[in-house]
Amino acid sequence: MAKHRLLFVCLGNICRSPMAEGVFRRVAEQKGVTEMFEIDSAGLGDWHVGQAPDTRAQSAARRRGIDISGQSARQVTHADYTSFDLLLAMDGSNYAALTERAPKDARHKIRCFLDFAPKIGTQDVPDPFYGGREGFDHALDLIEHAARGLLAELLNNARTAKKKAYSSSE
Ligand code: 4NP
Repeated sequence: MAKHRLLFVCLGNICRSPMAEGVFRRVAEQKGVTEMFEIDSAGLGDWHVGQAPDTRAQSAARRRGIDISGQSARQVTHADYTSFDLLLAMDGSNYAALTERAPKDARHKIRCFLDFAPKIGTQDVPDPFYGGREGFDHALDLIEHAARGLLAELLNNARTAKKKAYSSSE
């Protein structure tokens, strides 16, 4: 089966989207379904290209047993709109910028990541870059909810597609 290709997107690709990439990888591992996914993250800006995640993001993730130190920041490219199935924006402003740059036929691939955690009642993972440690912990709390919601929805869609394929082959 074709892999689901997921791109997590924030502004700088050194705080929120690298944490989201690491958390999603972890929840997929816990369900034993890593092989179903190709996961990456990118930023709308180019200020931090080539850098490892912010040390505060690395520490916050490490406190939850997740190692994101090997990631390297990159900027969103035009090709990402073709290569990925889903582009997950960390806040409403990232969503607007991603949509503005997108070719028309790729706009349906862009979603706010927190759409997958509807109980939280906000679209935005607040940018922790200018704050302290609590901001990173709070961002991770929101990211964990959305990662579980996203994984559940994708697994559910995959099950439905499998059933459909099975019943139409009978
Ligand atoms: P991120 O946080 O979008 O979660 O990676 C930021 C990191 C850097 C900057 C802004 C936000 N910056 O302006 O350099």
